[in-house]
Amino acid sequence: STRQFFVGGNWKLNPTSVGKAKELVEVLNKAELDPNTEVVISPPSLYLIPVRDAVSNKQITISAQNAYYKENGAFTGEISSSQIKEAGIPYVILGHSERRTIFHETNEVVALKTRAALDAGLKVILCIGETLVQREGGETTKVCEGQLSAVVKQTKPEDWSNIVIAYEPVWAIGTGKVATTAQAQETHVDVRAYLSTAVSTTVASETRVIYGGSVNSGNAKDLAGQQDIDGFLVGGASLKPEFVDIINARK
Ligand code: G3H
Repeated sequence: STRQFFVGGNWKLNPTSVGKAKELVEVLNKAELDPNTEVVISPPSLYLIPVRDAVSNKQITISAQNAYYKENGAFTGEISSSQIKEAGIPYVILGHSERRTIFHETNEVVALKTRAALDAGLKVILCIGETLVQREGGETTKVCEGQLSAVVKQTKPEDWSNIVIAYEPVWAIGTGKVATTAQAQETHVDVRAYLSTAVSTTVASETRVIYGGSVNSGNAKDLAGQQDIDGFLVGGASLKPEFVDIINARK
C-alpha cells in the first residue's frame, strides 16, 4: 500500500522532569531509524517546546496529547489547537481512552476537538476502541463506528488526509494484554469498511489505521506485518530504548 508506516510515542504524564524528557529525545536522536517510518513523539504539554527544540533528527515530529476546541477565552487549564500549531507542533492526539474515561470526553466532544484541530492546521491522531465488556458483548464494531461517525459528521472527505486513526482496545492499554494480530487486523478491516461506506473508498484505502495497546519490541514485527496495520501508538514502551525497535518493526 502507499500508506506510510507511522509510529507514535504517547508519553502520557511522563517523564517527571524536562531533563528526563530530553534524555528520551537524545536516545532517538542517536538511533538509526527506518527512514520509511513517520515518527511522532507526544510529551506532556509543558514539555512540548523543549522537546521540539531537543529533537535534531528531522524524521521525528511532535504531537500534543489533547487540545480544547475553543481557540482562546475563559477556559482555565486548557490549551488550544491554534496555540499548538503556532508553537510549531504539527500533531495532536484526540480521543485517547484515558481522556474519554477519566475526563469524560464524549464522542461529540472528541469530534468538536477534531474539527477545531483540523481548522487550526493540525494533523490528528484520532483514538478509538472498545472496552473489555464491549468486546465480550460483541459490540466492538458498533463502538468504533459510533466513535468514528461523530467525527465523520464534523468532517469532509478531504480532511481525512490529516487524520491517523489509532485503534486502541481499552483492555489492551497498559495491561500487557496485547490484541492478537488477528484481532487487530480484523478490527482494522472493519474500520476501513466503515470509512468506505461513511466517507469514501479512497479515504478507506488511504487513511492510516495504527494499533495501540501493549505494543513492545517483542510483538511489533508480527503486528506490523498485517496488511491493514499501518503502525502503532505506543505508550509504556515509548519511554524505553525498545521504542527504536518498534520504529524499525518493518525494517
Ligand atoms: O496511546 C497509547 C496507548 O494508550 C497504549 O499504551 O502501550 O502503555 O499499552 P501502552
